[in-house]
Amino acid sequence: MYENSRLIIDSSNVPEPHSVTWRSPSNIAIIKYWGKYGVQLPKNPSLSLTLASSCTDMRLEYSFNENNPEGKIDLEFLFHQEENEAFRSKMLDYLNSLLPIYPFLKQLSLKIQSGNSFPHSAGIASSASSMSALALCLCSMEDNLFGTLKDPDAFDQKASYLARLASGSACRSIYPYAAVWGETTHVQDSSNEYAIGFADQLHSTFKDFHDDILIVSRSEKAVSSRAGHALMEGNPYAEPRYTQAKNRLTTLIGAMKTGDLETFGKIAEDEAMTLHALMMTSNPSFTLLRPDTLAIIEKLRQYRTETKNPVYFTLDAGPNVHLLYPGNIVHEVRAFIEEQLAEHCEDQYVQQDWVGEGPEEI
Ligand code: PMV
Repeated sequence: MYENSRLIIDSSNVPEPHSVTWRSPSNIAIIKYWGKYGVQLPKNPSLSLTLASSCTDMRLEYSFNENNPEGKIDLEFLFHQEENEAFRSKMLDYLNSLLPIYPFLKQLSLKIQSGNSFPHSAGIASSASSMSALALCLCSMEDNLFGTLKDPDAFDQKASYLARLASGSACRSIYPYAAVWGETTHVQDSSNEYAIGFADQLHSTFKDFHDDILIVSRSEKAVSSRAGHALMEGNPYAEPRYTQAKNRLTTLIGAMKTGDLETFGKIAEDEAMTLHALMMTSNPSFTLLRPDTLAIIEKLRQYRTETKNPVYFTLDAGPNVHLLYPGNIVHEVRAFIEEQLAEHCEDQYVQQDWVGEGPEEI
């Protein structure tokens, strides 16, 4: 939808070397995206909270490249100041795939420097923060070169679209507080092509909201999300699952508008368990939950029964547990984590995070 052969630099009007820098956060899905079709299009709509402390800082430097007879994208990539060929090659593939949208990429020398606010290999997925940061840098560069993205809504929509092409869930990180990705009749202008912001409709409870990530294991995921999505193809529960996700989203949207924490928490936990059930029932089957994951869930349920505090869990495609709770009980919950849950985490590591205002240009 954004293919544009006119985005070419006129060699008689060569731009000065320039740089753009964005800080972009990760996000945590409450309704999960699991299963896709076509080019990174979701089989069901998803809704996420935008995080604040788990983020990627990315600086993109660009200059006109006069000597590029082969017309290849010229990319240097540094991660935490060091060359990283695996990441570079992934980014290069992505940038090459964008050439129909951004033909001018071949006319530039690009240098990307990237770093995460959370420890590398902390078991926290970085594709949402890094790929949304890259998409935002690309949109800023486009606007600097061609002046084509002056409208903030058009800018966000294109950034979300580009982020989706890199990593589906990354398209939701563009927006403050919360985002919806995927067509649903309950959210006006929702689309499979890009996410849209949900902050306007959100009850204030969810704007002062925490997500402490209990790192049960720092290890790499045993199944890539690409492989996981693909396994939904032959999963006998796939179709009912997509219907279930749509229905749950309807209920969740109601709860998030009114501040109904109990309904929110029930759906968050059901979705976490469903995601893992889908992985366990795929062929081959994956069991990403660890004994410590289950121990944390058991202790949390008991804590909730005893204290009546509205603390809920969700899971990503891994063993780490995200604890979701409102800001007014932060001290009690942090004490509970320290006293009872940190012992289940690798090196007792907990990444404290919360719902935030979205990406910022720095
Ligand atoms: O964005 P991907 O392709 O890495 O898929 C992510 C899927 C989950 O993180 C498991 C769920 C979600 O909606 O974020």
